[in-house]
Formats: sequence, C-alpha cells, structure tokens
Amino acid sequence: MIKTIAVIEGDDAAPEAMQPVIALLDSLNIGLEWVYPEVGEAAEARTGSIFPDDARALIDGADTTFFGSTSGKSGAALMYLRWGKETFANVRPCRYLAGCASPLADPEGIDFVIVRENLEDLYIGAEGQLTDLAPLALTGRNIKGFVHEMGVGRYALKAITEGGTERVVRFSFELARKRAGQRKVTCATKHNMLRETDGLFLEVARRVASDYPDITFESFIVDDFACRLIREPQKYDVVVMPNLYGDILSDAAGGLVGSLGLAASGCFGDDYAYFEPAHGTAPDIAGMNIINPTAALLSSTMMLEYLGFAAEAIKIEEAIARVYSRGDFLTPDQGGSATTTEFVSAVTQQL
Ligand code: IPM
Ligand code: MG
Repeated sequence: MIKTIAVIEGDDAAPEAMQPVIALLDSLNIGLEWVYPEVGEAAEARTGSIFPDDARALIDGADTTFFGSTSGKSGAALMYLRWGKETFANVRPCRYLAGCASPLADPEGIDFVIVRENLEDLYIGAEGQLTDLAPLALTGRNIKGFVHEMGVGRYALKAITEGGTERVVRFSFELARKRAGQRKVTCATKHNMLRETDGLFLEVARRVASDYPDITFESFIVDDFACRLIREPQKYDVVVMPNLYGDILSDAAGGLVGSLGLAASGCFGDDYAYFEPAHGTAPDIAGMNIINPTAALLSSTMMLEYLGFAAEAIKIEEAIARVYSRGDFLTPDQGGSATTTEFVSAVTQQL
C-alpha cells in the first residue's frame, strides 16, 4: 500500500539534511510517495499567500508530513501542522549513541523521551498591551494595584486546559507502557509559582496517573528538574511538560548527547502526525553540506514507525548507531569531518 508523505524542506541549511534522508528512504522501495506543497516565499511569489490552499490540500491528503526546520515564511505551514491538525503531543527522544560527542563524563544509558504539550501554555499567541487589560481590572498575586497600571508594557497569556493536559498526559503514559523501559512518567511544572495553570497541569497528571498503576509517576518543579536532567539523565524515561518548558528542555536534552543535530521530533494528534528535526535552520552553515542529518534521519524513523514500517525504522536506527560507534563518518558538530551526504551514505552502507 502506497503511503504519501508531504515534504516541506524548510529554510537555510535544513533542505541539505532533508534531501539525502528522503533519498535514503526512497531507496528502501517500500512504496513511499512524496509530494511537495509549495509554502513560504516561493508560494507567495506564485499565489500571494505564504500558505496557499493547494499546499494545505497536499498536507491534508498525505498520510503524514516531513518538515525541515523553518526560519521564515514557511512557518505558516508549521502553525497549520500544529494547531490546524491538532498535533498535541510533541515527542522528542533523547538517546545516547556510543561515539556521539556528549559533553558528559558518563552519558552511557541516556534514553528518555520528552513529551511536550504542543498547543497550549504560552504558545496560544495571545499577547498585547498591558493597558488593554484595564476592563478586566486584574490584580496580580505579587504586585500591588491593577495589572494595567504597571506602566507601559505587554502581556502574554498562559492557558492550560484540563482536556489539553489530560490527552497529552495519557499519551505519555501509553508511551511509557509501549517503550517498556523504566515504565516511568515524570512531570515537570512550576506549580509553586503558577499555582492555577501549572497547578492544574500537575493535578490532572496525578489524576491520570491513577489510571496507570503499572507505571511509576513522579513530579518535580521544573527548575529543579532541569538540574536533575543534566546531573542524572539516565533516571528518566518519559517526561511530560507544558509547552514552553518542553521547548527549552528538549534543546537542553539535545546538548546532553552532543548536539541539536541529534534531536528528532514528531508531533502527534488523534488523526494526524508530522515529523521534523528539532534543530533550527543553521543559517551559518547553509550551503556547506555539513549539517548533521541525524536529527532528520531519526525523525524519519519515527515517521516510518508511524506509517507502519517499524522494522525498517529499527534497521535505520541500528545503522546510525553503527556509524557513530565506528566514528569515521561523523559531521563536524560531532568532531568529525564528513559531509552531510557522506554521513547518509555511511548509514546507507551499514544498511
Ligand atoms: C521547536 C521550535 C519552534 C517552537 C519554533 C520554530 C516556533 O523551537 O520546534 O522547538 O518553539 O516550538
Ligand atoms: Mg524549540
């Protein structure tokens, strides 16, 4: 059965990581079909819109989307893939591969997954002038007087819903079951300060946890957790967090194993998922063919698994691990001198 994948290669150096990965997947001959929605500047020049209807139709018609990193106007497509498709669980694995350039003395055994709530929190995009809050006559717990009287300034709304939290926490417990590793879910919030919003997140997480007696549940205040994650990353299995903390700590997690070039990501909803390396577009190395394609490759294996090709996904992951442990074709961020395409060729050889 043919599976259709919509590809948005992204900006700057991102396409250089995406293209060889797509070529590798294509060479598997498992019936993948690629379609290329035109978004961003190119689409704007043709249609006047950075995210035209035909691009949306290709994404809707595909089984999934494979997305390179965006810096510019292709961001509109990203917004659609998240909020339009309600991909509420952003899954970001962090696994140590022997041979990767981790800064830790003892990175062996790091294997956890951050599940970041992907649609709510400070990401709802409701910001504005403080004075616009005057009709609400809000007072803060920690400031004297009305919020709108603080002076010239802006606000951002943080919103956490029961439903949004419950589904991402449930997703995390199901993932912990499926991974069958430490069988543990860790929740990180700032509930001591954000008692209503993060307080609700934690409350819902605790409630959901009671439905999973076979999975250990623990929670930490997020700043303390950041320290624990760096000191003892091997202790974690599945970590669930509100959106912004998940954004920040998933980059930190990339640093634990050596670089963002290793940070894969997939965003899952009830009836759609898309996959994107978590790194940025790396404009400083655009055109040099040295961007580390590991994040794109590992995102693509998450995608293969989602599409029903779990065996192929495992083979590619094992091939990547062999390339790292041999160490002769690593990209510069990992201390090697191989190009992006040489790295992917080495993985293909190992297959
Ligand atoms: C990520 C990125 C995005 C985010 C940006 C590009 C909007 O940092 O996927 O982690 O903040 O979610
Ligand atoms: Mg980020």
